[in-house]
Parts: sequence; structure tokens; C-alpha cells
Amino acid sequence: MSRTYLNYIGGEWQGARSGVTNPDVNPARKDEVVAVFPSAGRDDAAQAAEAAARAFPGWARTPMPKRGEILLRAAALLEQRLDEVAEALTREEGKTLAESKGEVARGVSLFRYYAGEALQPTGEIYPSASPTTVLYAERVPLGTVALITPWNFPMAIPAWKIAPALAFGNTVVFKPAELTPLTAWHLADVLEKAGLPPGVLNLVVGKGSQVGQALVESPHVKAISFTGSNAVGTKLATQCVERGIKFQLEMGGKNPVIVLQDADLDKAVELTIAGAMLSAGQKCTATSRVIVERSVMGAFRDRLAARASALKVGDGMKPDTYMGPLVSADAEKTVLEYIEVGRKEGARVLAGGGKLTGGDYDRGFYVAPTVFDGVRPDMRIAQEEIFGPVVGLIEAQGFDEAVALANQSRFGLSASVVTRDLGLAMRFIREIEAGIVHVNSQTAGAEPQVPFGGFKHSSSGSREQGKAARDFFTQIKTVYLDPP
Ligand code: UN1
Repeated sequence: MSRTYLNYIGGEWQGARSGVTNPDVNPARKDEVVAVFPSAGRDDAAQAAEAAARAFPGWARTPMPKRGEILLRAAALLEQRLDEVAEALTREEGKTLAESKGEVARGVSLFRYYAGEALQPTGEIYPSASPTTVLYAERVPLGTVALITPWNFPMAIPAWKIAPALAFGNTVVFKPAELTPLTAWHLADVLEKAGLPPGVLNLVVGKGSQVGQALVESPHVKAISFTGSNAVGTKLATQCVERGIKFQLEMGGKNPVIVLQDADLDKAVELTIAGAMLSAGQKCTATSRVIVERSVMGAFRDRLAARASALKVGDGMKPDTYMGPLVSADAEKTVLEYIEVGRKEGARVLAGGGKLTGGDYDRGFYVAPTVFDGVRPDMRIAQEEIFGPVVGLIEAQGFDEAVALANQSRFGLSASVVTRDLGLAMRFIREIEAGIVHVNSQTAGAEPQVPFGGFKHSSSGSREQGKAARDFFTQIKTVYLDPP
């Protein structure tokens, strides 16, 4: 029997008011229910927003260093249960245990980083035109914020929103993806055990159409930070503008890697595979377009296809698995549809190209690592985010065409070039339209201390992580202080 978990609202663990629950299923073995969670409704979400708003004055008055200490304790508790949380993550999301451990470790680093941020200056003193005035600008919290997070990084993304939101004095309603509530539960649990006062963080597991919608409509919510699809993000943004509240969106990508003719081809293959296939390609930073200079296309193509075909796909809990399943039946269906679209558009399948079947594969949502050749920039598979283990090879005549092709996208999250030519690497850094630029490393990955976010339709303009999070999770109060 799988354990039934609860939501955390106003310091109480409770089920959905409606009594409805939802199974958390293992995508590697769809007959295995990892846990059962409440499926919260609009009323639960409204209650959570109210609880968070009630807790706000007390939390905002709590000295910042004290808030930082709670985050530090949460980091320590999370680190103690790293193996347990990583296992939960793999079992509910599907990525390999090694990837999950890395992600939980990233969560620990994020809590430590923002515990440190809680000791950093919170404003600036300015010279005043008046001799008696103390003139300063101070960063103050926003109030209650709603954090809506996806299933693909169920630890890292919540951590990089929750930790700064709390450090800077906001109270939080955290709505994780319904597909991955157990990792989210661990976060709420460690924060409670670390001494976070009741109501400061509220966990509400439920559907976006119910919980997310109620949160964006709640008068208590003063800002929304969202990571997910462009369709949902755009709709949320419109509502936030109407309500006059702050919002931050991290959405899609169609991230290119450019392989120049002087590249170390083995290295180029390795980082293309890692960028495209780890987490079964389900990262907004995943590599999905491989733009290769004509003179090395033949050699690169053969090596990439051979490497993709040889990847070990299976249950992420098995130590030799390189790539796990897709997260759900819906995800699998979408990816398989895109593979058909690619075929119909005239791209040629060099590796993979469909569902993996037989034996244990029949128990989960497994799609073979897929490489398309002959992809043209106007094809749907070159323009739309597939969110699966699928890459397309696009040929370029030279550096200029490669960069132009890379920029031919409505997205601009991350991009990479593989080259030994420093001059071309520097031109790439200058000319590429992307928020995150890699030279000789894969398109995915994000260290906690630097800004994360994209150009164009990938983000709404603000950045997450590092010091950038302060800009989003605070507002500025400019003070003219004069003696009586
Ligand atoms: C990473 O590349 O390690 O949803 C992080 C996503 C991104 C996070 C990527 N917001 O995939």
C-alpha cells in the first residue's frame, strides 16, 4: 500500500476539502503507485493564500539573518535525506538516480546560497541635495507569492524559487506539478522541521486549472513565479497584468548546439548526447537542434547516430541506465506525435524513431533516443519545443549561417558552440540570441549563483537564481529621512 500524504496549509497537514486524491505514478512502471496525494481545489488554494497572508507580517519582521538560519537548517536536513529524496524523485519523475542525486544536491546548494544572501546588504544610501536628509533605498518583501513549478526539476526549480522568496521575507504558496508531489512534500517537510513558522510556506498539490487559477485570482497573492509551458505562462501573465501584480515566467526552449568544422567531434557528440538525452530531453535547456558545418557533417552524423542508438534506456533506479522514461502517458504521446510530424515533414530518422517495447519497456513510457537528419529550419520539429529525447541535425555552410540558423527561433534560452577557435567562440557569444551561452559545454545545467533565464519567448524578462532573484522577490522603498 502506498502512503497517503497531505497538503501543508497554515502549519497544518490536511487533505483536500473535497476529499479527492490523486495517485503519484512511477513512469518506469506504471503499475506502481509511489504515493497518494490530495488533489486540492480552488477552496484549498484560497485557504493557503489566506494563511500565507496572515503569516506575512510576522515573517517580514523576522530578522533576515534568522530567516537565513532556518534556510541553512533546511539545507542540512535535506542533505541528510539526500538519498531518500533522490529515490523519491526518480520513482515519480523517471530521471536516473544519478541525475536525481545531483538535483537534490543542487537544492541543498540553493538553500545554502540564499541563507548567505540573507546576510547581504538590502539597500543603498545615496547622497542627498538636502544637508539634513538621510536618503536611502531599501529592498522590502512583496508579501505573499505563489510559486508554480513543473515536474521536470521537482527539486531544483522549487528550491530556486522558495529559498529566495523566503530569504527576502515573503510568504509562499507552493503549487508543485501534480506529477511530482513527493519531492515537493520533502521540501515542505524539511522546512517545517527546520523551524519555519506556520503559514510561511504552504504546499498545495492540485491541478493548475484549479489551484493555479485560484492563486492568480487571490487578492492575497502579490506575485507569481511560474516555470512551465508558454501556453499557460502567457495566460497567467495576462491575468497578472490585469490584476496589477508582479510575474516571472520561465518557459520553453529550442536550444541549439553549433558544431564547427574544427571541433573535437567526440566531445561534440558527448555534449550533444548529454544535452539532448539526459532526463529524456525533458529540460527547457535541453539540446534540440544540432547545427553542423557541412565539412564535418558526415563524420559527426555517423558518430552521433551510433552513440544515440547505443544508449542504455531503462528504469532510472538501475545503476547502468543512461536515460529513463518520459514522465507520463501524455508526454509520451506528444513526443511520439512529433516524431511522426518529423517523418512527414521529410526528415530522416537516423536513430530511434519510436516507442521502445518488449519486457520492462512495456511497463513504462519509454521512447528511444531519436536523431533526425536533414532537418530544415522551417520544419515544425525545428521550431516547436518537443520536450523529449529528440534532436534534429541541420546543416550549415559556415559560421555565419550556423549562427543565423541558431537565431531563427522564437525561443532563446540556452545555446552552445563546440570549437577550438577562440575568435569564433567570441563572435558566437556576441551574436547568439540566448540568455545562457555555453562554449564547449552542453546547453543544459544551471549553477545557483548566476542568473538563469532566456531571451525572446523563453522568459518574461526577469531572471532567476543568484542575485537576480532579489530583483524579483523584493520591491524598492526609497526613504527621505529628516530629523523632526
Ligand atoms: C538545468 O538545465 O539544469 O525547466 C535547469 C527547466 C529549466 C531548468 C533547467 N527551467 O528545464
